[in-house]
Amino acid sequence: MAIKHFLQFSDLTLDEFEHVIERTRVIKSKFKNYEPYHPLADRTLVMVFEKNSTRTRLSFEAGMHQLGGAAIYLNTRDSQLGRGEPVEDAAQVMSRMCDIIMIRTFGQDIIERFAANSRVPVINGLTNEHHPCQVLADVFTYIEQRGTIKGKTVAWIGDANNMLYSWLQAAQVFDFHVNVSTPKGYEIDPTLVAADNTHYTLHALPSDACVGAHLVTTDVWTSMGFEEENAARLKAFDGWIVDAAKMQRAQPDALFMHCLPAHRGEEVAAEVIDGPQSVVWDEAENRLHVQKALLEYLVLGKLN
Ligand code: CP
Ligand code: NVA
Repeated sequence: MAIKHFLQFSDLTLDEFEHVIERTRVIKSKFKNYEPYHPLADRTLVMVFEKNSTRTRLSFEAGMHQLGGAAIYLNTRDSQLGRGEPVEDAAQVMSRMCDIIMIRTFGQDIIERFAANSRVPVINGLTNEHHPCQVLADVFTYIEQRGTIKGKTVAWIGDANNMLYSWLQAAQVFDFHVNVSTPKGYEIDPTLVAADNTHYTLHALPSDACVGAHLVTTDVWTSMGFEEENAARLKAFDGWIVDAAKMQRAQPDALFMHCLPAHRGEEVAAEVIDGPQSVVWDEAENRLHVQKALLEYLVLGKLN
């Protein structure tokens, strides 16, 4: 049977996401009730980080421990990946010693090559093109707070980055709409969006993209790996801050999300991220719960 990977959001079907979401509720409730749950006893997760992380490392490492298994952290600096060992060889070796692998790296092609040579499931913990685990946590957070995301409108204000591409795939799977506003020169790369994706609309002005939105979300203007563009981006993104005026164009009960880390005064005003519509801490916490359900599903399949 083909190994199931989670390299981008579209790798799982709606049916599979519904299962993972249901399991997330169960697993989160066990966690809140201090109820031990060890379906992955004696299993090992290897985590490969080629970029920095706080939330992704913590949530996968703590999550695997809570499921009864072990997590091993490798980074580019200490492992042979940093000395030029081919990813194909690394995948062969790592996947003979563990049950599942999570990678945070640069190009999506790297994780695709890794997965093609892996004997075990591979999870994308962020690439330049996708951040599916974060958007899974965000979709779960929305559903948890508002019941359903189907038919709703999400406003994306900012860079056309990994988070946006995962949101656009999620919109196709869950049948919601994304209003996208990116500054000139930082528009969507059409090669990263499915040709049949009709679940988004482009808006020249960020305030227009917010009109009627049920959820307003943004991310850093300069993603990891693009640091040398920071000064140019600060200029180009002027006006794309999510502030109270933009939130007022959205639905009165609209939520605000940000995957974090955030820069108050750049992509988001403190009054918004620290205000009553913000659910950023729930989003961060839910990384733990959704990823535990994802690990369980990818290693053990559907549990009833
Ligand atoms: N949101 C997110 O992935 O955070 P980290 O970079 O801290 O892992
Ligand atoms: N778009 C950001 C997300 C960080 C979690 C980045 O890639 O750096």
